Amino acid sequence: MNLLPWGAGLISYRIPISQNNSSLDKLTYIQATVTNLLMKNIIAVAGATGNLGSQICQALVAKGAEVRAIVRPESDPEKIQQLERLGVRVLKVNMLSAEEISRAFWGASCVVSALAGLRDVIIDTQKIVLDAAVAAGVPRFIPSDYSLDFTKFSPGENRNLDLRREFHAYLDAQPIAATTIFNGAFAELLTDQMPLILFKQKWILYWGNADHRLGFTTIPNTAEFTANAALDPATPRFLSVAGDQVSPRELKTIVSELTGEKFSLFRPGGLGLLSVLIKIARRVAPGKNDLYPAWQGMQYMRNMGDKRATLTKTDNNRYPHMHWTTVKELIAAHYAHSTNP
Ligand SMILES: NC(=O)c1ccc[n+]([C@@H]2O[C@H](COP(=O)([O-])OP(=O)(O)OC[C@H]3O[C@@H](n4cnc5c(N)ncnc54)[C@H](OP(=O)(O)O)[C@@H]3O)[C@@H](O)[C@H]2O)c1
Repeated sequence: MNLLPWGAGLISYRIPISQNNSSLDKLTYIQATVTNLLMKNIIAVAGATGNLGSQICQALVAKGAEVRAIVRPESDPEKIQQLERLGVRVLKVNMLSAEEISRAFWGASCVVSALAGLRDVIIDTQKIVLDAAVAAGVPRFIPSDYSLDFTKFSPGENRNLDLRREFHAYLDAQPIAATTIFNGAFAELLTDQMPLILFKQKWILYWGNADHRLGFTTIPNTAEFTANAALDPATPRFLSVAGDQVSPRELKTIVSELTGEKFSLFRPGGLGLLSVLIKIARRVAPGKNDLYPAWQGMQYMRNMGDKRATLTKTDNNRYPHMHWTTVKELIAAHYAHSTNP
């Protein structure tokens, strides 16, 4: 155990975590629990100025945690002020310096990453953040995954998820316990970018099987669950949630009921055809440096429609008192807002 100078002699710690952190040993659990009792929980967040990151901070503050956000010197001052108004302690750091970041992490019981980007962020920057967490003796790390369960898929099937898998190879070799949160797709995408509900055409566009259920979780639910996990000293390596799971056929019924209009299922083809279209889209508009080029969204749709993405169990009930927003509730709120802005 390391003793680091922190506050009024509070114990900070470097817990000897086993490399296979799916089986946190008893000693680790007891040490972490005792430490959490002794200390006010300090959670450090990277990516706190982002959409998900800011909501994770908000959920953490609501749960009484002391929240430290590391941001870039050039991060939007308005977003920094919003965090500060929440009660978050914001620290501007050089994101290339693990040493500087580690000073911001001292005493934290968990580092949560909600960074978004391509290789330079998900691999390069996250590695620096992770190294800083290890150097500061932080016992737990939540990487910026927040996706469908990519462990079921193979490299090459989804560029953005491949980056996460590559980062895991590094993460799992570090002396720190990691917990990935799988949330399927953000439910808000249903009324935004995801071409699944075509409101104008009154179609539910899908590929493959009309009865295959797709997992959706709202951003606030993902943030609240992540905050709970950050404060939980004994999380497993993977946690999987789905605010709701609906098939295209069920979605058709939901949207038809809510709008009072008759929506139809529209199936341009199976997942094989979608794969061919992804290849064409990638060649025509590669958008190599874009985080979400059209073909990337199509890859995500294909993964979601694949039976390997089927959720046989979730960890939704791990933390009591969470209300999981259903797809019906989300679309009802969207529809109420769009018809009565
Ligand atoms: N499952 C889903 O459907 C779904 C959908 C969307 C996102 N996600 C995932 O959710 C996570 C968060 O995404 P988001 O949409 O909340 O992202 P976002 O709003 O774009 O925020 C990205 C955050 O990362 C920071 N960042 C980016 N590049 C950085 C760098 N080089 N150095 C330091 N900080 C950097 C940004 O800081 P600045 O403010 O300084 O730019 C910002 O705080 C990601 O893992 C993303 O893939 C999942």
